Amino acid sequence: MTTDVRLSVNGVRHRLAVDDDELLLTTLRRLGHTSVREGCGVGACGACTVLADGRSVSSCLARTVRYDAVPVTTADGLPDGDDVVEEFVAARAMQCGYCIPGFVMMSHELLAENPVPTREQIAAHLEGNICRCGTYQEICAAVAATSARRQERARGDERRPA
Ligand code: FES
Ligand code: FES
Repeated sequence: MTTDVRLSVNGVRHRLAVDDDELLLTTLRRLGHTSVREGCGVGACGACTVLADGRSVSSCLARTVRYDAVPVTTADGLPDGDDVVEEFVAARAMQCGYCIPGFVMMSHELLAENPVPTREQIAAHLEGNICRCGTYQEICAAVAATSARRQERARGDERRPA
């Protein structure tokens, strides 16, 4: 059976018919969002992570019909100059890069919930994501650097005359 869904991806609305068991991962890639990667396909690696209403979702486990009218954000929908992405690049937090979109989306979720996470909190939040290239130290450093950058910017905003 198919169902008509209204998908909102990175602020763009789509209306499409999907099989009731179609996975969000499949639909997003069908729409051209190839930053959404399939790794394990069973919810164990985090490569397919997207944000739905700001919360991380393993799109390889999610059925598209459940995301009717829910705003979805993928890594390729982040704006140019996204601070998390810039800090990942600065920290050289990738080798092959396959896992990185998932880590970036998880990092955005964490920093929205907890703007100043400890190293332990960063590691705990990202522990469901797997990087086969083993760049965990650099990834954690990138998240910490993004947090520091946001704090610095906030302090600058406070000092600036209104
Ligand atoms: S592909 Fe979805 S968690 Fe691994
Ligand atoms: S950078 Fe290669 S899997 Fe993470």
